[in-house]
Amino acid sequence: MTPGATMGVVVVGAGDMGARHATHWQAVGACVVAVVDRDVERASAIAGPLGAAHGGDLGPYLRHEGVHVVSVCTPTHLHAPFTIAALEAGKHVLCEKPAALTLADAHAMRAAAVASGCELRIGFMRRFDPAYEPMGTFIGRIGRPVLAQVTITAGVRPKRLMHDALANGGPIIDMCCHVFTQWRTLFDGRPELVSARGYTFSDNKPEVAAIDQRALDSALVTIEYADGSVGQIQVSWGLPAGIEAVERHSYVGPDGHVVVDWPKRVTLRDASGVTRWSSSGVDPWREEIAWFHRELRDGAERRVATIDDGVEALLTSLAVLRSVRERRGVTLDEILREDAREVEATIR
Ligand SMILES: NC(=O)c1ccc[n+]([C@@H]2O[C@H](COP(=O)([O-])OP(=O)(O)OC[C@H]3O[C@@H](n4cnc5c(N)ncnc54)[C@H](O)[C@@H]3O)[C@@H](O)[C@H]2O)c1
Repeated sequence: MTPGATMGVVVVGAGDMGARHATHWQAVGACVVAVVDRDVERASAIAGPLGAAHGGDLGPYLRHEGVHVVSVCTPTHLHAPFTIAALEAGKHVLCEKPAALTLADAHAMRAAAVASGCELRIGFMRRFDPAYEPMGTFIGRIGRPVLAQVTITAGVRPKRLMHDALANGGPIIDMCCHVFTQWRTLFDGRPELVSARGYTFSDNKPEVAAIDQRALDSALVTIEYADGSVGQIQVSWGLPAGIEAVERHSYVGPDGHVVVDWPKRVTLRDASGVTRWSSSGVDPWREEIAWFHRELRDGAERRVATIDDGVEALLTSLAVLRSVRERRGVTLDEILREDAREVEATIR
């Protein structure tokens, strides 16, 4: 891209995330060249107001010299093929979270990024949420180790793909990745042991009856970190449809207690009293895209999550799923070793 030129972007996947990406890219000064979706009417509805082209095939836009970035906003099982095709065509990629459903896909995405020399980032946009910094600062004031508890509950998701183990992977992959990636920065070091019990509360619910491979939708997860901190997540997407969603975090350390009503309020109680923070309502997706635009255009400090962040979060999700299946504690190294064996077997 020549200095000073407008950055050209193609968005693939014209659903909720695709609409956000397209609008924000245009708003930060890039040019949305096209929106692509297998449902061309959806692509057209987003592209039209932006004056962009639309289509059902990404291929022609990958050969377009005026396209510098591809935003991948399809269901998760399609992140790898679109991301790899874009990287191989010499385009930078912002891929929605989670990176992928399998380590093989995530590693292939990383390998394609390395081979292409292009940037591959994962949309862990919470790090641009206004609550993110006060939460980290307050947790930094309660000492170590930290005992963390997060509750995330919602009714059966209106998008059925979110319950499909072969599409978006269910909440352990799709939702908990946000918490896993936050905890990697809050607690020093990789998770040492993951233990979980899980269920599919939606098994008897008619809304998801048509899905052959329903993902686990409810679990109690315990993760032990190298710095002695312990985190527990109580998660369910299997409650009755339409029930009010809740996300609440509680962090207790030797010097205080932080309560987070994500993403609106963060409260610290410590020896100095009560310190409260509440949201200014900034849109984290817009901040993330504005920042990535500055990174690519001006060489700004790298803040948008990397594929390595995506791989780490996925490793933790896979350890949780294995722990549920085998009813035992699982280490991340174990998951990595097994993946290496599978890769070796495929090569042979
Ligand atoms: N950052 C976040 O907090 C956040 C929030 C929601 C979703 N997501 C992630 O974003 C991704 C998309 O989620 P969404 O809620 O926008 O989904 P969505 O169902 O609203 O949109 C997905 C779009 O992809 C299109 N699509 C499917 N297969 C395609 C193909 N082969 N070629 C082209 N288009 C295809 C669908 O037609 C649909 O329009 C998922 O990976 C999800 O996990 C991230």
